[in-house]
Amino acid sequence: MSNHRTPQPPSRLPKVGTTIFTVMSALATQHGAVNLGQGFPDFDCDPALPDAVTDAMRSGHNQYPPMAGVPALREVVSAKITALYGHHYSAADEITVTAGATQGILTAILAIVGPGDEVIVLEPCYDSYVPNIELAGGTVVRVALQAGTFRPDFGAIGAAITPRTRAIIVNTPHNPSATIWRAADFARLAEILRPTDIVLISDEVYEHMVFDGQSHASASANAELAARSFVVSSFGKTFHVTGWKVGTVVAPAPLAAEFRKVHQFNVFSVNTPMQHGLAYYLADPAPYRELPAFYSAKRDLFRSGLAETRFKLLPSEGSYFQVVDYSAISALGEADFCRWLTSEIGVAAIPLSAFYDDGRNQGLARFCFAKRDSTLQAALERLARL
Ligand SMILES: Cc1ncc(COP(=O)(O)O)c(C=O)c1O
Repeated sequence: MSNHRTPQPPSRLPKVGTTIFTVMSALATQHGAVNLGQGFPDFDCDPALPDAVTDAMRSGHNQYPPMAGVPALREVVSAKITALYGHHYSAADEITVTAGATQGILTAILAIVGPGDEVIVLEPCYDSYVPNIELAGGTVVRVALQAGTFRPDFGAIGAAITPRTRAIIVNTPHNPSATIWRAADFARLAEILRPTDIVLISDEVYEHMVFDGQSHASASANAELAARSFVVSSFGKTFHVTGWKVGTVVAPAPLAAEFRKVHQFNVFSVNTPMQHGLAYYLADPAPYRELPAFYSAKRDLFRSGLAETRFKLLPSEGSYFQVVDYSAISALGEADFCRWLTSEIGVAAIPLSAFYDDGRNQGLARFCFAKRDSTLQAALERLARL
């Protein structure tokens, strides 16, 4: 008999299984569906960006960078945040380059959350938050965004706070609802947090995708909140390079110091040539300043096609998502509707229920419009049957 025994330690994340994103993508491939489910562009980035990275590699920037990130990148990020949001973060002590926002969020949580600590998440929410809190041994406290509008319910947020609340996670522009927070929302949150020591983790990966002349309200633009916040951003979203996995986390020095303790023994540092390439590319604000026009044109193209169908369109204020209410088309639950849409109509979408712990059905699905116009047209031709 073999004595090769594989131990089965108790799972740290027993509830985590195959996500709906993987399921829907596999179904889309199987049925040759247009995949508007997964949130990433199907077009390439500005060639100047890989050119800058290639130059960095050829110039010998191929060894470990400083733990917190290449200084030139941290400097340009500092200047950018000051210019956009009016808050100065020290490149030396307050800005850390991370392996994408995903690592940044996990590292922030591991740095400050321990057993017995509660962390408030606003549902629907991005799927990494809850397992991250659980890995840290914290307790997840779910507060729903308001049904129908996805606006924050400040009464409910205030009521969820206890002496054990360590942090709250906010995401604007919001995945999946495509709503944004205004400066007044952050001001309201600041009031609620004022008497507490609660840390804000503000996930702002879609900061450069805000439409209709609105500007992005960052937690860093509110001085009171900036003093208690980790603000998370992602170059992958901004520059159409989601596979590069490079982002930043900014925070006041005492929080950044704790962040870096975990970062140091997690990834230690993020790949060097990408950081040099991004530092060079980021010096020109044009690419991110042009992003709202670029994406709102795609949003408008997609929405005008959907307006011909029986989908009811929710507002898309920011991010690259469009939520639709399909209740005039089908009585199916959200996951079943999205499976049907993928296999029978040939367009993949993501059920909103995937972003809630209780998997509630509201008759809503999320499309991603970060796609070539031809991809959006192909999807619209198929959806026209609805
Ligand atoms: C709200 C939100 N936060 C974080 C991330 C992860 O960003 P990154 O690819 O930089 O890890 C995503 C990606 O989809 C997201 O939608």
